Amino acid sequence: MSNSLDTLLSQGTEELRLVADEASLRSWQNRWFGKTGEISNALKRIAEIPAAERREYGQKANSIKEELQAAHDAALLTFREKALEEDLKKGSVDITLPGRRPAPGRLHPSTQTLRKILGIFGELGFEPFTSHEVEEDEVNFGLLNMPPHHPARDMWDTFHTTRPGWILRTHTSPGQIHAMRKAAPGPLRVVLPGMCYRYEQITSRSEIMFHQVEGLAVGEKVHLTDLKGILLAFIQRLFGDKRKIRLRSSYFPFTEPSMEVDMDCILCAGKGCSLCKKTGWLEILGAGMVHPTVLKNGGYNPETHSGFAFGLGVERIVMLLSGMDDIRQFWANDWRFLKQF
Ligand code: PHE
Repeated sequence: MSNSLDTLLSQGTEELRLVADEASLRSWQNRWFGKTGEISNALKRIAEIPAAERREYGQKANSIKEELQAAHDAALLTFREKALEEDLKKGSVDITLPGRRPAPGRLHPSTQTLRKILGIFGELGFEPFTSHEVEEDEVNFGLLNMPPHHPARDMWDTFHTTRPGWILRTHTSPGQIHAMRKAAPGPLRVVLPGMCYRYEQITSRSEIMFHQVEGLAVGEKVHLTDLKGILLAFIQRLFGDKRKIRLRSSYFPFTEPSMEVDMDCILCAGKGCSLCKKTGWLEILGAGMVHPTVLKNGGYNPETHSGFAFGLGVERIVMLLSGMDDIRQFWANDWRFLKQF
């Protein structure tokens, strides 16, 4: 019996001597130390050995196991050291190579322009007021002079939530109600920035989400000329002091009178080009004098108080300032686009 153990040791050692690399070392290990390997089998045989010889057999088998294991470990170490040495000789690990720097973050173009716009209105005396993106139907429409089923609601295609009566705001105008209720009956000059949502077909010119900045001033003597002056000052600070504006009659349920505000085209200065579709003018924002019903809903007495309001789309301004022609770029998260700003 112990003779067959002796050949086991010499056979294992001999086979190990022929192993030339780590891969064949693994097959050697499997053959000798695997579940049905030579060593396991030898140990399993202990039970069949006559009791008198069992102790000696067991000791010997275990010492062979240890010896072969040690020889294996030594071989493995040699292979690993040799591999490292070759690796270093090839220079594949250049520890002097500097690491790659993570790309620095930067502000999204919409955020950059939003901040610029708020900065200008700040200089003009308008304080930022934060409203919320999930809004009550009643505030987004009802209190803005559009009762349920009012046809003007169709001007804003709406995302509804699973909670009845709550929607994603379609414009920043409901913030007017919140701002007025906080300030009434005192004077008020605020800008309300934020994301708005509309259930629309996404095209190069329209998105389902976009930023607006709402402006609102309420007081005892607020006139249309104030609105005109503020908007001219704003546009000239943003687009240069040569810009002109014009007011065009329009309709919003929450302002009376209502108007669209255009500025002369920044490319052709009014001569007519492809940007302004040959009209010489670019539509910039919607505005008007706050409707008496809305003033009342905000807590003001329309007999003694008046106000103006306007709303502009931030992405549209970014596009005009940068020459971009596809609004879908804003939320595409394409680093090649974003890093140009
Ligand atoms: N809320 C309007 C819109 O989204 C813009 C607007 C704001 C018009 C304030 C008048 C006054 O189209």
